[in-house]
Order: sequence, then structure tokens, then C-alpha cells
Amino acid sequence: TEQQMPRHFLDIRDFSGDVIRQIIDLSARVKALQNNRARPLHPERPLEGRTLGLMLAQPSTRTRVSFEVGMGQLGGQVSVLSPGDMQLGRGETIADTARVLSRFLDVIVLRTGKDENLRELAKWSTVPVINGLTPVSHPIQILADVLTFEEHRGPIAGKTLAWIGDGNNVATSLMEAAALLKFNVRLATPTGFAPSERAVRWARENGASIEIFHNPAEAVAGADAVLTDTWVSMGDKDREERLEAFRHYQVDAALMAKAAPEALFLHCLPAHIGEEVTTDVFESPASVVFDEAENRLHTQKGLLLWALGRENG
Ligand code: CP
Ligand code: NVA
Repeated sequence: TEQQMPRHFLDIRDFSGDVIRQIIDLSARVKALQNNRARPLHPERPLEGRTLGLMLAQPSTRTRVSFEVGMGQLGGQVSVLSPGDMQLGRGETIADTARVLSRFLDVIVLRTGKDENLRELAKWSTVPVINGLTPVSHPIQILADVLTFEEHRGPIAGKTLAWIGDGNNVATSLMEAAALLKFNVRLATPTGFAPSERAVRWARENGASIEIFHNPAEAVAGADAVLTDTWVSMGDKDREERLEAFRHYQVDAALMAKAAPEALFLHCLPAHIGEEVTTDVFESPASVVFDEAENRLHTQKGLLLWALGRENG
């Protein structure tokens, strides 16, 4: 009999809008349960007996803690694996590691500095592999961003989100989501830090309106939300050059004032105050960054339920 493909979650673009919507709606339902203190959380323990392997080759606060706590709340357990402490670090191949881990684990999250490592793990793993961030994309972040936007401003379809700064991994996943969920993205990036051409082309071919500017003021004009991220991502070596290139891309109060009157400020965190964002914007009522961080937990739970086939309870 043919083996069923595991429900990998590698990139937003691998899905239809319906699946992404299903995961976000499931996450919102899971969140509503959590906030109902009158009732024990997930007494049915839907992931009882299941184990998540959390393979993080790079630092993480939100991704690690949200997966650990979320898996626990759903009745499952977590094995945290540092690739450097595994035989991988001594040259065991990803193919062999994937086939071994598939015999122990029910789902694997990988954060890696090399996108090819994620693809290789997914190729060989017979259990679902979730992209926990690569230099190319960060799809799980965008699930939380969409949930956060919609909690504050209603359906995201037709809305305009401005991305200021580096055309990085988070920006790529945002553009892919724009195509599937039918919102618009306006990016302002300096020369040399444009978003991935492949991602822009894909998003446009799939119906997204993606506009690219160099001037942040043009990108934020009338936007319903302003997003930014660090100017120096994990693995970037050219910090000084980047600080110089991004000097005019700081999200400050004057820039926020050019967006729509009720515009939200989002940031995947960690933030670098005084670089990509000023304190006053970060701490302003428009800033929903800690709701966004909390929503990593709820969307991770929705995603785990979906990946393990428990989306219907
Ligand atoms: N936003 C995000 O992925 O945070 P961590 O690097 O802390 O996981
Ligand atoms: N773009 C950042 C996101 C961190 C969550 C990085 O890749 O380091």
C-alpha cells in the first residue's frame, strides 16, 4: 500500500488558502478554550502519547517555548534536540537522522541556518516536518501575524500591510500568505536588500498585490498595519554595512503617522529598539507585538493538531 505523505509544513506557498485558513481558525478556537478559565485546558489530551522533536540549530525564545508549552497543553511531550549535540554534528547525514528520528518521533520542528537542510530532512522524514525558520522563510511566524491582525482589525482579506526594512525570511512568508489570503503587501527595502524575486513572482502569479518601494513613506501610505524585523538576521555577517543601509528605514512615530489612522504595528521579535523601531512606536497603543508573540503559542497548537491529523478534535 502507498504511504501517505506526512503533513509537512515547510512553506505557506505549499498550501491552498483553505488549509492556511483552517489552521488559523483552529488556532483561534484553541485560544478561546485557553481563555475560558472555568474549564480544564484540553482534558481530552488530543496529542497524548505523541512526541515532538524540537531541533534548533540556532537560538530561539518564542519558537522553542511556544512549541514546548503548546505540545504539553495538548497532552504530548517534547524532546529538545541541539543538532550540535547530535551525531549530525559529527557527520551523520540528515537522511539517516531523519529516518531514525521518524522511528521515535511523531513530528519534527527544524530551525536551521541552511534552507537545504530543511528540504533534505523533509525528503527523508516519514513524520511531519515543520519549518521553524530558515534564512529563506519563516512561515509559522505569519500564522501568528495573521491571527493577531484579525483579532484587532477583522478579516485580513483586502487589507494592506506595509513591510519596512529587510526583504528577509519573514517578508517572504508574508508575501506568500498575501496571495493565499488575499491581502496586499507594500514593501520598502534599500537597494541590495530587496525581497526574494522568486517569492515576489510567485505571490503575484498567485493573485497578490505586491508593491515594492525604496521610500518607507510611500510603502506605509494608508496601510492598515506596519511590520518590520531586525536589520541583522541570524547568520548575517555584514552588521555594519546593514546598519548603514537601513538607516532611513526605522519605524518611528512620523512614519506611523503616514499609515492609516488605526494602523497596527507588528514585529516578530526579538526587537532592536533604536534600530528598526523606536521606543515610542514599540510601546504605543498601536503596537500589538506581545499579542503577536502570545499567538505563536496558539498558532503552534493549531498547526500541531493539523499536522497530526487532529484538526477535527
Ligand atoms: N519570532 C521568533 O521566531 O522568535 P524566536 O527566534 O525567539 O523563536
Ligand atoms: N529575520 C529574523 C527573524 C528572527 C525570528 C532572523 O532570521 O534572524
